[in-house]
Parts: sequence; C-alpha cells; structure tokens
Amino acid sequence: MVRADLSSAAQTRSLGLSLAKLLHQPALITLRGELGSGKTSLVRETLRALGVDEVIASPSYTIAQSYQTRDGLLVNHLDLYRINEGIDVDLLAWDDYLGHGLTFVEWPEAGTGQLPPATLDIELKHVTPTSREARLRGVPEIERELVKTMRAAGISARRSHEAPV
Ligand SMILES: Nc1ncnc2c1ncn2[C@@H]1O[C@H](COP(=O)(O)OP(=O)(O)O)[C@@H](O)[C@H]1O
Ligand SMILES: [Mg+2]
Repeated sequence: MVRADLSSAAQTRSLGLSLAKLLHQPALITLRGELGSGKTSLVRETLRALGVDEVIASPSYTIAQSYQTRDGLLVNHLDLYRINEGIDVDLLAWDDYLGHGLTFVEWPEAGTGQLPPATLDIELKHVTPTSREARLRGVPEIERELVKTMRAAGISARRSHEAPV
C-alpha cells in the first residue's frame, strides 16, 4: 500500500497528473471513499492532465461517461452508486470497458462479481475540509512507480505494509 497526503486540492491535481503519467491501458482503477472524499475530483484531474477539455461531470446519474484523450486514449468513468437502487450491473458493457483504455470506477463494491481485480485501487479519506489521505494499492511495481512519480510531483507519499487480515 502507498499512503499519500493530499493537503490541498492542488495536491489532488498533482496526483491526477501522476496517474496520467504512469497508467497504461488497459487498466481498471477503482475509487473508494465516502461521498465528498474526492473520487470524482481525482478522475477529473486525471482527465484534464490527459488533455480532455470538455466538461467532466460526475457520472452519478448517467452511471457511465466516456472520453477520448488528446492522444486518442479511451477513458471510461463509471459510478456504481445507483446500482444499489436496482439498476442491473450485468447490463453494463463490461467487456467494452475492461478490454482497452482506462476505466475508473467509483463505488466498485456494487460491481462485485463483474469486476476483475483492479490495476490500482484508490481509497480516499477526509482529513480536514480541504485535505484528504489517499491509500493506493496495486502490484509492487506500480506502487514503487507511484511513490517515485508522486514525490516528483511534490506529494508526500510512502509505501507501507499492511498487517495480514
Ligand atoms: N484535497 C482535496 N482533494 C479532493 N477534493 C477536495 C479537496 N479539498 C476539498 N475538496 C472538495 O471536496 C469535494 C469532493 O467531491 P467529489 O470529488 O465529488 O467527491 P466524491 O466523488 O468522492 O463524492 C469537492 O467539492 C472538492 O472541491
Ligand atoms: Mg463521485
């Protein structure tokens, strides 16, 4: 696991920049954390860093939004929160979302059974109204790369080992 302090919205932007640099398709990025913890903001910053200029709205009502970056990369942004209200997770075009491009999924808990293990799982927590803590989990190579890239972007980040459950 990698822990990072996002002490301001600017640091969340820097994390978005770091993700834009190091993620390669195909990748599934799951985002967990309570409402307002910054999941949508982080995806928006990543899309901006990838050169998407259009309005990036939260997909909480549309469930899925797709974007094409400056370099022709497909980025899908899903929010499964409303799946809990009876919308069928099986109806989503998972093969299209997972086969290529980058796919960001907020509230992945609702997609359990449909989603393969994530390339990167990001958990966000409120610390103060303007600061957040991020916990990022992936294979050792991606965690090491993340720490390097985040530090270069001015984020305080460190790898820590989790106690076995
Ligand atoms: N350091 C920070 N990182 C991310 N968001 C922040 C930060 N500080 C304040 N915020 C605010 O918190 C809110 C996060 O909302 P949003 O990204 O929609 O959360 P979620 O998708 O997790 O519900 C936004 O209004 C954002 O401006
Ligand atoms: Mg959101």
